[in-house]
Amino acid sequence: MEVQEAFRSVRPCRAFLPRPVPDDALRRVIDAARLASTGSDQQPWRFIVVHDEERKRKVAQAVPRGAFLNLAPVILVALGLEEAAPALVGGYMMSYPLEVAAAIQNLTLAAAAEQLGTCWCTDFKEGKLRELFQLPEGVRVVGVLPLGYPDPASLTNGPAPGRMGFSEIVAFENFSW
Ligand SMILES: Cc1cc2nc3c(=O)[nH]c(=O)nc-3n(C[C@H](O)[C@H](O)[C@H](O)COP(=O)(O)O)c2cc1C
Repeated sequence: MEVQEAFRSVRPCRAFLPRPVPDDALRRVIDAARLASTGSDQQPWRFIVVHDEERKRKVAQAVPRGAFLNLAPVILVALGLEEAAPALVGGYMMSYPLEVAAAIQNLTLAAAAEQLGTCWCTDFKEGKLRELFQLPEGVRVVGVLPLGYPDPASLTNGPAPGRMGFSEIVAFENFSW
């Protein structure tokens, strides 16, 4: 899929076919995340791949309104390592969520190139996931992402209707809104 086309067509997917995700496709999707750039090349990310039905159910239970996660054959849990990215953005903001976000965007577009769909969910109860995966201190959950072949009956691919226009979000030379 051409990049500009992907920006305009890839939408979150919340309904999946029961078809498994081939290992090589899964690998390419996560590889795309791994290739994102990070400050000082710190790569403060880790990804847990969940195939097991019982564990998927537990992950879905940690996400309010996340029942659809269970429909996907795979759930990815994107983690950020606080201590690996102590650099502050502009002196005030931890950088690791930004870096994991860049990886997730790569992952989302790579999934589309494999005809797979995903949806970055942040509406999770972190404590439940910390317990389930026994996460050590300093390792934070940044996203829960179902991955699978979209159910064509619920496909919403196409330009996102709600996006603000170019002139609404861009100013030249000054903050002039
Ligand atoms: C950082 C982030 C967090 C999101 N969290 C959730 C979520 O917890 N649950 C969910 O169903 N969708 C989630 N989404 C998807 C958004 O709800 C979706 O992109 C937004 O409603 C716009 O829809 P559209 O991209 O189809 O236009 C998230 C997207 C982003 C980028």
